[in-house]
Amino acid sequence: MPDPAAVTVRVPAKVNLHLRVGSRRPDGYHGLTTVFQAVSLYDEVTVEPAPSPRLDVHGEGAGQLPRDGTNLALRAVHALAARTGRDAGVHVTLRKGIPVAGGMAGGSADAAAALVGADALWGTRLGTAELVRLAADLGSDVAFALLGGTALGTGRGERLSPVLSTGRYHWVFALAAEGLATPQVYAELDRMRAAGRAPAGPDPAGVLAAVRTGDAIALGRALGNDLQPAALRLRPALRRVLAAGRDAGAVGALVSGSGPTVALLARSADAAVALAAEVAGLGVCRTVRQAHGPVEGATVSPSG
Ligand code: C5P
Repeated sequence: MPDPAAVTVRVPAKVNLHLRVGSRRPDGYHGLTTVFQAVSLYDEVTVEPAPSPRLDVHGEGAGQLPRDGTNLALRAVHALAARTGRDAGVHVTLRKGIPVAGGMAGGSADAAAALVGADALWGTRLGTAELVRLAADLGSDVAFALLGGTALGTGRGERLSPVLSTGRYHWVFALAAEGLATPQVYAELDRMRAAGRAPAGPDPAGVLAAVRTGDAIALGRALGNDLQPAALRLRPALRRVLAAGRDAGAVGALVSGSGPTVALLARSADAAVALAAEVAGLGVCRTVRQAHGPVEGATVSPSG
């Protein structure tokens, strides 16, 4: 069969239901124990043949992303080309639906989608295990964006094991006007810990038990993020967003990953609609998005 002319991949954002940050390792990364959930905010990534590598980006925040070889999506294509002996000359188009620099792994999602897209375009048939290995080398969250669902992440977040999860969880995400750089948030946490502030939180047992039984209220109580105090120190206005969400009926509220997106958990789909409307009306954030999870990872869209 000839290679397809273009492949489009849909890839979800993530929220960390639980994020416990260990100490800084010699390689500069922090050891993590985290529970990821993939949620229904998506980027769409199209990969098509081209004489030389090229990247276009559309959607909110597109102007903030690098268009050159430093973009993680192009690095993903190069990594797959090097592994399989292909020419990396492809045109990659990103359509952003995941907030940029929002703590929802949008850049990692694009890299995962580019891997899946180039794999399908070239017919390399590497298999999921090999793609996950390539993904893990590209960034801490890329492997999870490839697999989706609900997973426990260890190492720097790239070592994944599936988590038993039942039910569907309904989220409202409060998006900020300006992003936060992940390395700065980790550095702030290091400073706070050196000063004896921001101790590590509890282990993820409560979150794992809640998702096993599909209990949104128990999950809301068990949500936790060690990066949250650092994100709040860098962006104190996020406290108001968290409080507004709780006052508006969220059963759980936390900063998503390194922030500044705030994730609000609703008790039901109807409650999420009401929560989104109320939080949007308070003017505490740039905009809100509703989503549900868990959803599947990077998936080739049907053509045509
Ligand atoms: O792996 P990724 O490129 O997504 O990480 C971005 C940055 O976040 C790293 O350069 C590092 O500063 C920080 N980080 C960390 N420990 C982790 C994951 C990320 O310190 N486990």
